[in-house]
Amino acid sequence: MSVLGKLALVTGAASGIGRATCRILADEGAAIIAADCNLSGAKDTIGSLKSSHNNENLALTMAVDESSSVKKGLKLILEQYSKPPSIVVNCAGITRDNFLLKMSEQDFDDVIRVNLKGTFLVMQTFANAVIQYKINNASFINIASIVGKHGNIGQANYCASKAGVELLTKTASKEFGKFGIRCNVILPGFTDTPMVKMVPEKVKQKLIPFISAGRFGLPEEIAQTIAFLASEKSSYVNGASIEVTGGF
Ligand code: CAA
Repeated sequence: MSVLGKLALVTGAASGIGRATCRILADEGAAIIAADCNLSGAKDTIGSLKSSHNNENLALTMAVDESSSVKKGLKLILEQYSKPPSIVVNCAGITRDNFLLKMSEQDFDDVIRVNLKGTFLVMQTFANAVIQYKINNASFINIASIVGKHGNIGQANYCASKAGVELLTKTASKEFGKFGIRCNVILPGFTDTPMVKMVPEKVKQKLIPFISAGRFGLPEEIAQTIAFLASEKSSYVNGASIEVTGGF
């Protein structure tokens, strides 16, 4: 009922929630493919894995917003493992925060392209491979955000992209169900990652009173829910949005 012996692809694996996910899935016995546009960061993630399971792990370059890069990643994975991953976790994402009145067209486009189109490209490419290779019981997990549900000052582009990721996931769960692929989405709250480190201190102080836990989350606290969704323990969870926010 665990992820033991499964092959897991994690995008955005060089830092934050992606890196924590690689560590927890590796601890639980999965072989890890750490994908990121930052290859040295992905290699550092692989180097930091302490799993005792002797799995063959891999770091690879993947720019999720470029279909050629996503397809190249799949090709390398098939060469190395002779099968596609049955666990796919889309953590890759960026922010370009600014007030809507001042937001550049470029910053709007970049965030939608990486966060929303990137998730679409990875899901489409790897779901086709899972179907072609007749992999049973696959689990795709996407990372959206609680701000994609409520909005957030300074994040019109990011909130719109994450709202899109949530409905992209729900739609995929309806289309992929008959192929044995479950699709679920996590809405993290404010989590202590490099992304949140960029938030000005005065804004952070304004956010804390809205979090019941009284603190930002740890990447590992998001990754534990990802590991649950990746495993057969969640076999009847499909098309779900799960908030992991400390009560934001
Ligand atoms: N919530 C509440 N107040 C906010 C805010 C927010 N998210 N963002 C900005 N403000 C407030 C500031 O506190 C400030 O208030 P005062 O006038 O009382 O000082 C006012 O808006 C103006 O802000 P700045 O002085 O910082 O203005 P700026 O033009 O220099 O910068 C900004 C604007 C780029 C939006 C900057 O404020 C900012 O980065 N805000 C944070 C945005 C944010 O919350 N990002 C979350 C990143 S984490 C993430 O995205 C992960 C996830 O899934 C949640």
